[in-house]
Amino acid sequence: MRIIHATDYDDMSKRAASYILERFKDIHTIGLATGGTPKGLYEQLIPFLQKQDLTNMHTVNLDEYVGLAPEHPNSYRQVMNKLLFNEVDIPLANTHLPNGVASDLEEECKRYEALIHFLGVDLQILGIGENGHIGFNEPGVDKNSKTHIVKLTEETREANSRYFKQREDVPTHAITMGIQTILASKEIVLLASGEHKAQAIYDMVHLEPNPTCPASFLKHHKNVTIIVDTKASVKLT
Ligand code: F6R
Repeated sequence: MRIIHATDYDDMSKRAASYILERFKDIHTIGLATGGTPKGLYEQLIPFLQKQDLTNMHTVNLDEYVGLAPEHPNSYRQVMNKLLFNEVDIPLANTHLPNGVASDLEEECKRYEALIHFLGVDLQILGIGENGHIGFNEPGVDKNSKTHIVKLTEETREANSRYFKQREDVPTHAITMGIQTILASKEIVLLASGEHKAQAIYDMVHLEPNPTCPASFLKHHKNVTIIVDTKASVKLT
């Protein structure tokens, strides 16, 4: 696990963007995350991506809420369209997320897992939850998990309620890539900013891989880089 230290959110976003751009020619499929953490990274990447031919590029997102149709403003599909896809010239058909309103959600998980393996993820971007989750792989997750349906913890629903009108509107379940799905990517870059992430970063770096901190399973991967700002890395020193 390589650690790149950044001063603050802005610096973390810029360092993450340069890291990705250095590898850009080798990235055909990129794994994306939503949430507040990668927003600045996407902003940094947009001017560059606007000049690229993205016809053959594919994106796969980590997760989607169960019960929110792709048109719902809080669906991760809409979030990604707004943050990135509408800003660059990528065919929307190449941008993939699980379908949270599929009639058969188990089948949808299988379809998404197969798609990810078919495309092969060259680089996966991750954020981290305060409880150490990656994607929506909450504490207790099986290290062999593939794309699956999860019940969100109340802590995660609370953290994500800032994007919804009221807390009750936050879905209770989501479809997420599993730990194995994430570990199958060739390279992983995890970003973290802010003191509220400091304990999760400490646990990820110092604990033996174990389900109480799902991000600790990243130790099973050979090519992981974490880009953390001063506040998120305060417990590391
Ligand atoms: C988002 C995702 C989550 C977030 C995590 C951190 O697609 O998979 O694991 O990365 O909840 O969220 P923020 O960045 O909002 O602190």
